[in-house]
Amino acid sequence: MNDELILCASPTPGVQVWTFNRPDKLNALSTALLHRLDGLLRTAAADGSLRCVILTGAGEKAFVAGADIEEYSQQTREQFVDYQHFSRDLFCRLERLEVPTIAAINGYALGGGFEIGLCCDILIAARHAEMGLPEGRLGLCPGGGGTQRLVRSIGRYASADVLLAARRLSAERAAELGLVTQVVPGAQLMATALEKAAQIATIGPLAARAMKRLLREGMDMPLDEALTIEQAALARLFDSADAGEGVRAFMEKRRPTFTGH
Ligand code: COA
Repeated sequence: MNDELILCASPTPGVQVWTFNRPDKLNALSTALLHRLDGLLRTAAADGSLRCVILTGAGEKAFVAGADIEEYSQQTREQFVDYQHFSRDLFCRLERLEVPTIAAINGYALGGGFEIGLCCDILIAARHAEMGLPEGRLGLCPGGGGTQRLVRSIGRYASADVLLAARRLSAERAAELGLVTQVVPGAQLMATALEKAAQIATIGPLAARAMKRLLREGMDMPLDEALTIEQAALARLFDSADAGEGVRAFMEKRRPTFTGH
């Protein structure tokens, strides 16, 4: 496996930064790169000390410009379908990673790149970033969840504009639509993402994992069922050592020390 295709760094304890690293191809998702993502997701899923993963792209131009179209052009139908199954599985595993994830969108996030962003919990974008699903221009459609996660995020009509007219959303427009929570100058993007990761680290780790899961699972449930899983999660958290510590620390006017238990 080529570890250089996605760089992994840990600038502060408990925080990992994954940098898609094929800048000469705008970080397009080759099969080899997807295998590296697979490896990182496996390691992250087993790492109990992890509190947040930040995903970003190398260079200033692109987060990820989508699937590798050159690779597409050489694939048989079978290889193409395998690639789609693989990327679907990876994106679902990214979405279900227990720890919160931040997409630090530093440029073009197109096709699979936007789909990766849509699997993250918090999206922060550089002012010059652009997001879109231009697969229709290739005579194709998204296959990594783009149509389904977008419509669940920004609704049918804004999604139709992105899909049917291949509209690229500017960072500001994505923020207006509620997709991006912060738009900052490119030079401040990583500092802003790290600051967000530090804020996430102030939340009890079990609580963060529970709330992430509730957001994802509850969205596709009838409200009554969703309210039930919310209360079940809260009751489990109440039994945790961290909840005892959090409440005690508040009463004692000090910062809590969470252990993830
Ligand atoms: N797959 C493979 N290579 C890609 C790529 C992709 N998705 N996106 C960009 N590249 C490559 C280009 O082929 C080019 O390589 P080259 O220098 O060897 O010719 C290099 O990255 C730079 O891209 P280029 O197109 O020259 O940059 P640009 O500034 O003119 O345009 C984009 C930028 C993002 C608008 C344009 O690259 C683009 O439309 N990319 C495809 C986006 C897409 O359709 N994604 C969905 C795929 S299913």
